[in-house]
Amino acid sequence: MALIGEGRDTRMLGAAWYRRFSAEVPGYGFIDADTPELAIGVVAVARGQGVGSALLVALVDAARHDGYRALSLSVERTNPALRLYQRLGFVPVGTNGDAWTMRADLTGRSILGS
Ligand SMILES: CC(C)(COP(=O)(O)OP(=O)(O)OC[C@H]1O[C@@H](n2cnc3c(N)ncnc32)[C@H](O)[C@@H]1OP(=O)(O)O)[C@@H](O)C(=O)NCCC(=O)NCCS
Repeated sequence: MALIGEGRDTRMLGAAWYRRFSAEVPGYGFIDADTPELAIGVVAVARGQGVGSALLVALVDAARHDGYRALSLSVERTNPALRLYQRLGFVPVGTNGDAWTMRADLTGRSILGS
């Protein structure tokens, strides 16, 4: 979670998390039960200023620290966020309707935050 300000003036700018799914009840970006899927959102007024990148780098670090070897996500092919994910090492590994399923390998050195 990304916050700005202090005390009662604190405002949330965005949040990112990952969770595992099962093959029986998969997420949109499901690869396998050992690969958590991430989700992210930044409030509209704070987009394009690096908040999403900072959240993703922290999340990748957390996933690596928790022992995961990869993360997945699902993104519409036309979503400009695609470039952000590619920059952080996510590569397309499949499709789900109009969306790419993307995967980042956390075991190599190619992804930011390592
Ligand atoms: C995608 C999102 C989390 C990125 O967060 P952010 O704080 O804007 O990201 P950053 O400032 O670190 O990086 C900006 C990158 O995100 C992309 N982006 C996506 N939507 C954007 C928006 N509305 N405004 C600005 N940049 C956006 C830009 O293309 C940019 O990449 P570029 O530098 O290669 O052009 C945020 O824009 C968002 O919440 N969008 C709406 C919800 C959404 O699409 N979530 C992802 C679903 S898979």
